[in-house]
Order: sequence, then C-alpha cells, then structure tokens
Amino acid sequence: MKKILIIGSTGQIGSELSIRLRSIYGVDNVICGYFAPPFPDGFFEAGPTVEINALNIDRIAEVVKENHIDTIYNLAAILSATAEKNPKLGWDVGIGSLINCLDVAKEYNCAVFTPSSIGAFGPSTPKDNTPQDTIQRPTTIYGITKVTGELLSDYYFTRFGVDTRSVRFPGIISNMTLPGGGTTDYAVEIFYKAVQGEDFVCPLRAGTYMDMMYMPDAIDALVNLPEADPSRLVHRNSFNVTAMSFDPEMIYAEIKKHYPNFKMTYSVDFLKQSIADSWPNKLDDSAARKEWDWNPQYNLERMTADMIETLKKRLNK
Ligand code: SER
Repeated sequence: MKKILIIGSTGQIGSELSIRLRSIYGVDNVICGYFAPPFPDGFFEAGPTVEINALNIDRIAEVVKENHIDTIYNLAAILSATAEKNPKLGWDVGIGSLINCLDVAKEYNCAVFTPSSIGAFGPSTPKDNTPQDTIQRPTTIYGITKVTGELLSDYYFTRFGVDTRSVRFPGIISNMTLPGGGTTDYAVEIFYKAVQGEDFVCPLRAGTYMDMMYMPDAIDALVNLPEADPSRLVHRNSFNVTAMSFDPEMIYAEIKKHYPNFKMTYSVDFLKQSIADSWPNKLDDSAARKEWDWNPQYNLERMTADMIETLKKRLNK
C-alpha cells in the first residue's frame, strides 16, 4: 500500500481509519473521499480530500487515475436497521459502490477492502462458535448485500486477479464518530448516556448476545489484513473476526462498576430485535488468527474502561 483512497472516510470507521493510515503511510498518501456532511472536526485541514459519490464509477476512476491510487477502502454502506426501512437504497449503495470499486480496481490494478459483517449470517447459521465456512442465508437486505459482496469480491480475485480482502465485522464500539442505523449501535450509545449522567433505554432484550469489537482492534484488522502475506491466505472474502460477545446485561454490569448509579431500562425495538435474533451469538475467528495473526487486544472490561476515560475527556465530564 502506497497510495490509498478511502471512500466513506467521514463515517464511524473511516474517520478513525484515516488517522491511522496517515500515521503509517504519510498524510499525503491517504486521500479521504467524502460525499455529504457531517464532517469530522478538522477534516479538510488534516490531509488530502476528494468529493466522491461511490455510485459514480467515472468519478472513482478519475480520482484513482489522477492520484495513482493502489488501494481502495470502500466504506460506503447503509447499516442494517436503516437498510430495512429502504431496501432498494441498501442494495444500491452496498452493491453499487462495491462493483464500481472492483471494476476500477481491475482497470488500474488496485487492491480493494470492503468490510463484510456478522449480518452476512442468518437464522439457519450455527449461532455459537459460528464457523468461518458455514451456512449464509441472511434475512436482512444488509446481509444479502454483504454475502453478495463477499462472493463478488472473491469472483474478482479468482477471475481477474484483483487483490480483494475483507473481514466480517461485528458491532464496532467507538468514541469519535457515532455509528448510524445499525443493530449493534446500542453498545455505543450506552456509553454516551452513562458518561453524560443520563439513563439508557435499551432497544434489545436481555439475553441478546452479539459479537463486538473496540475500534482500535477494528483498525488493526483494516491495516493488517491488507498487509498480510498473500501466500498464507486460504480465505479472502471474508474472515470472521471478533473480540468479545455480550448481551445488554453484561455491558450494563460492566459500566455500573464505573457508575454505580447508572440506570438501564428496556423498550424493545422490534425491527432491531428481529435482526439481532437472526445473527450469531459468537463467531469462531480461528481462520483469521491462523492466516494473518488476528489478535484483538480489548475485552469487555478493558474496552469499557478506555471508552469511559476517553469519552469523559471528549465530553468534558
Ligand atoms: N454494526 C452493523 C449493524 O448493526 C453490523 O455490521 O448494522
């Protein structure tokens, strides 16, 4: 990786990935693509930016050609709950952006990284220790785009030699940019409420287990998999990765160790609950550990302590 384009660089992942990539590869070697506000603080001052609509293949090709891009991170996505409210938009953004990136990559010899998700699994997938290679029959449009994306990415690798790699991300917990419209968002929102001294109303039932990961580990995956020795990769699109699995009661109990008076109640959002119920409880990520040394650093306890410390400073609490 020498010259990188991030499409969707203002979102939850992109806003933190751009900082890490610039610290590794140099500020001018990471071009942040944006489409619409809101923009992270200091976004335009931090390094090169380009206006880019992921659905406009000519624009992607133009930016790649002009800047001699060799790696594209395609982070354009509509998350699971929002996509259920507008399935056509979920499909258009999820698949339109990907096939554009793959075609441009084929033409200009770029590597492509597009995250998949735990949403690529469905109710007929084994729920516990979900294997790397298993049944993938998702029941959400988000999941359908993710499975299609995995297949398309593998197809462009085997058929055209495009260097595609990807991970199935779980819920990502972060403190810089909020996620939007995901089923796992509650695990971020709960921290903001706790640190701001407010009660939290949980949209998912007690006992709803899902995989989760703290952002620094997610960024490690985004940096380390593209750099991995290709001769070690048996899989490409996509690797199971996880760092922890918890239900609302577990994260509530962990936060209460820091804020004993913090209160959580439940008001179930039936759309999010049905999505969460169709996803695994806990992935088996041994293929990622074996093939590119995936090794997350944050468990629930460590992540909670760091989230609270960081949010306190960021929110002046
Ligand atoms: N965080 C995503 C969502 O909840 C899952 O990949 O939609």
